[in-house]
Parts: sequence; structure tokens; C-alpha cells
Amino acid sequence: MFDHFGLLAPVYEKFIKPSQPEQLISLLELPAGGRLLDVGGGTGRVSGFLSDLVDEVFIADLSPKMLAQSLNKGGLHPVCSHAEKLPFPEGFFERIIMIDTLHHVCSQQDTAAELWRVLKPGGRIIIEEPNIAHRGVKLIALLEKIALMRSHFLSPEQIQKLFQQFQDDIQIRHDSHISWIIIPK
Ligand SMILES: C[S@@+](CC[C@H](N)C(=O)[O-])C[C@H]1O[C@@H](n2cnc3c(N)ncnc32)[C@H](O)[C@@H]1O
Repeated sequence: MFDHFGLLAPVYEKFIKPSQPEQLISLLELPAGGRLLDVGGGTGRVSGFLSDLVDEVFIADLSPKMLAQSLNKGGLHPVCSHAEKLPFPEGFFERIIMIDTLHHVCSQQDTAAELWRVLKPGGRIIIEEPNIAHRGVKLIALLEKIALMRSHFLSPEQIQKLFQQFQDDIQIRHDSHISWIIIPK
């Protein structure tokens, strides 16, 4: 499988700027004890800001070159892995984030099941995705299709449904073009 993100890795954060994730921190109810997993966390662009707010941060990503960039940030544990088959035991993480990645994975069903499996009871998952109802996001989806990136965008309600086999109480939040799906366990 071609690693598109491996090509982008050296310049990724020049184009997709690291930004202080205040909204995410509040949704995650941080600081908290225990471990946080950033699934498809790439360069650690987002989880780099979270390492002082939990005991440990792991990044699971398919692209070794994206993960290599995360080493510059210090304090993150990069793990090369499919989101669909995570190399961690049940209930290992208190918090899980998946930022701008769910539309890239091969199986969204298997990914949802894995996130739920490795989440500790009492913990929470936050999925952040561009909202496909937004015109700019539709354009990005088209460009990713042209680049053969196998992107498959779900609406926030479809993501909610994906996790409803495990948990009924799932909240959705929006800003102009981003949605957050909040899944407690
Ligand atoms: C758009 S980037 C987002 C990176 C990071 N979450 C961020 O917001 O900066 C998508 C990431 O998902 C990773 N990825 C794609 N499919 C994956 C899969 N099946 N399992 C794990 N990671 C995957 C890519 O390697 C890439 O680093």
C-alpha cells in the first residue's frame, strides 16, 4: 500500500499548522491520570501538546516517516500500527483521540471496535473529523480521491452510529467545519 503521508511527512506541519487544542483538551477532560493514545497521530502535531496533561502519550500510525517526525517532540511513544489492529491489551488507555484520520483507514468498523477494546472503562474517545457537509471539506475529499488516498468521509451521525453498538450515550459537537464525536466508556 502506497504511503502518501510518508511523502508529506517532512513538510506536513508546515502546511497543517500545530495549534493549541483548547477545545480538545476540554472535551477530553484533561488533565487526567493514565495513558492517552493518538490513533493515526502522525507527527504528533496534536498530541505533542497533551504530554504534560496525562502520564504517557502513545501514537499509533501506519506511516514510519510520519512517526519519525514525532521523535523531535520528545516524551511521545511512537508505535507503527494499523488502527484496525492495535498492539495493546484491553483497557490500556484512559483517553483516545483520532484527529483527521477516521476517513483514511481501510476499515472504519474494525477501527471503532479496536478503539473501544483498548479503552479503559471510565475513559473516553474523541474523534475529530472535518465535517463533510461543509463545501471546503467536500473539495478536500475530491482532491484526496484524485490523489488515490482511499478517503471515505462519514457524517458525524454516521460516526456516532459506528460506536452505538458499544454505547448509546454519544455526543456530537461542531464548529464551522470540524466535528467532534465524544464516546465515553
Ligand atoms: C491527515 S493525517 C492526520 C495526522 C494527525 N492526526 C494530525 O492531525 O496531525 C492521517 C494519518 O493517518 C495515518 N493513517 C492512515 N491510515 C491509517 C491506518 N489504517 N492506521 C493507522 N494510521 C493510519 C496516516 O499515516 C497519517 O499519519
